[in-house]
Amino acid sequence: MCGIFAYLNYLTPKTRREVLEYLVTGLKRLEYRGYDSAGVAVDSDDGKGITLVKQTGKVKILEDAIKEFMTGHDIDTPISTHCGISHTRWATHGVPSDLNSHPQRSDEENSFVVVHNGIITNYKDVKKFLEKRGYRFESETDTEIIAKLVHHLYLQHPNYSFRELVEQVIQQMEGAFALAFKSKHFPGECVATRRGSPLLVGIKTKTRLATDHIPILYGKDQLFILEHRPHGAGREVPMIPRTESTSEFQPLEDKEVEYFFASDASAVIEHTNRVIYLEDDDVAAVKDGALSIHRLKKSLDDKHAREIITLKMEIQEIMKGSYEYFMQKEIFEQPESVINTMRGRVNLVNNTVTLGGIKEYIPEIKRCRRLMLIGCGTSYHSAVATRQLLEELTELPVMVELASDFLDRNTPIFRDDVCFFISQSGETADTLMALRYCKQRGALIVGITNTVGSSICRESHCGVHINAGPEIGVASTKAYTSQFISLVMFGLVMSEDRISLQTRRQEILEGLKNLDSQIKEVLKLDLQVLEIAKDLFQQKSLLIMGRGYNFATCMEGALKVKELTYMHCEGIMAGELKHGPLALVDDMMPIVMIVMRDCVYNKTINAIQQVKARGGQPIVICEENDKETMQFAHKVLEVPKTVDCLQGVLTVIPMQLLSYHIAVLRGCNVDCPRNLAKSVTVE
Ligand code: G6P
Repeated sequence: MCGIFAYLNYLTPKTRREVLEYLVTGLKRLEYRGYDSAGVAVDSDDGKGITLVKQTGKVKILEDAIKEFMTGHDIDTPISTHCGISHTRWATHGVPSDLNSHPQRSDEENSFVVVHNGIITNYKDVKKFLEKRGYRFESETDTEIIAKLVHHLYLQHPNYSFRELVEQVIQQMEGAFALAFKSKHFPGECVATRRGSPLLVGIKTKTRLATDHIPILYGKDQLFILEHRPHGAGREVPMIPRTESTSEFQPLEDKEVEYFFASDASAVIEHTNRVIYLEDDDVAAVKDGALSIHRLKKSLDDKHAREIITLKMEIQEIMKGSYEYFMQKEIFEQPESVINTMRGRVNLVNNTVTLGGIKEYIPEIKRCRRLMLIGCGTSYHSAVATRQLLEELTELPVMVELASDFLDRNTPIFRDDVCFFISQSGETADTLMALRYCKQRGALIVGITNTVGSSICRESHCGVHINAGPEIGVASTKAYTSQFISLVMFGLVMSEDRISLQTRRQEILEGLKNLDSQIKEVLKLDLQVLEIAKDLFQQKSLLIMGRGYNFATCMEGALKVKELTYMHCEGIMAGELKHGPLALVDDMMPIVMIVMRDCVYNKTINAIQQVKARGGQPIVICEENDKETMQFAHKVLEVPKTVDCLQGVLTVIPMQLLSYHIAVLRGCNVDCPRNLAKSVTVE
């Protein structure tokens, strides 16, 4: 979803050309999140105003518009201190258009400009309030109220600092946001804040930082300018005098500094690996080169400082290298990413598994009443894929829930529940809301995420990083297999002292040991899958059937096909065939069936016979050399055999490849499918 990137250089001279290049590159790194328009704001030629360039469509179009703007403007004079903000927008309020793109502005003078990720739910009230005070709105966005409100406050309180103005603005905001502001009245300053949407600050200095911690400064009172009424325009009430000014904290030995504000680390990593993840309601302000982090109110569980952490990410991880698409690269990275998930955790010598992030909580988890696995999209499928094994290894009831549905139902949660929140990004709004819901009810919260420092990561009591490395393609691939393995490892930890389960554990550990080489084998099917894709890419529909351990592959495979190719595709539980889906089957309907030699083999063969009897011509994914099964197949993809509960890691890969090839053949945008976003930060 929307991406924010802002750059501030303090006493490190940069031309506006360089600043614009930084902004455009930052936006390119955020493209994978999904967006439909983009924009930037930099100082104007005379340094006294703000220039906006905004475009509907890809960052490339914005880049061209910026190049056009560059001719005829002085963009090559070095400026010692400058702040630029930029944004990729994923439309929520108002269609993708130049006007609706961000930065949004306060007035025709561009006095204040803002970029926003999230949704302001009370924007209509604030809009009416501002309209009554003469503001005319030019966009359909919720964001425009933010720019106009900060302007309104500035006019009333010209002696307020930029940071104080923003603090007042966010008091009035309901909903979710990450925001970065720039103003012609506060040149060389940037203020950024978040509530519910991710934001981090990257810091680059020539010398080492004087400290790894930035203390938090607290305000005293909150001010009110609006009284919200359900259907009214809001009434202005007197403002409480502003908070006493707190001294700014200068964290650096060195005065020369560059700051980067971004929605995620991939946008800053080529500049710096030193970052601070902001917490909800933090207001980060840079003034005279000093970064300070403020909160209006102190709450009980507040930490006193924000830590500057060192990211381990490498720039190559977020580049495509020799691959054509990120998704393709990520599919082919799976032999390494599964190893990274297990690295330092699975000990094949003494058959132990150690998950450092949840170790201390294992006794508590063993005493729980039930396990709940909650997620969205692909992450949810990883829960479906491992549920059966977790039931077996933990001997606990395991519930698997889609986060949105879980919240809709107000599901009862108890103190002795253990709730797992599975999320690649760690920022998915529905999953995060479900987490907070369960936390409030006293359950133990375990995060399974791929993004260090993400909201789910920070708000969990404990957790497992899946360590799959950055995943850029919107359609999740390597995160799925790593989530799968993380959950399997959890099952192994839980069953470590169960004598009766030792043989089972042993075979799973053996399976894990061989997984990377088996994945390499499956990836060799690429050309065969391409041939099948050529047969299928003009079809309207595709059914994927299977059951037991491989049902999750059907759902995940169908999701991949839908996401990437816009073709109708359904994952069908083969046991349900007779209860409806069989009506879809004829000699024209393309069908993929997953038939593994596990405990549901006979039942799956039964299903394939029913499909054949209706003229169906199934493409079968089966075990290597399984001649008996192959006789039912119109076409075959053979994958190596592993232990039943890990087979889904191998069967999903042909489906990832198939969706990828169909998408390429259909001319679809593989890495950024239409209407979809990588990180869904709104409900
Ligand atoms: C979006 C993405 C999916 C992803 C889902 C959950 O819909 O397009 O690929 O599976 O969100 O995301 P998460 O980051 O929570 O795993």
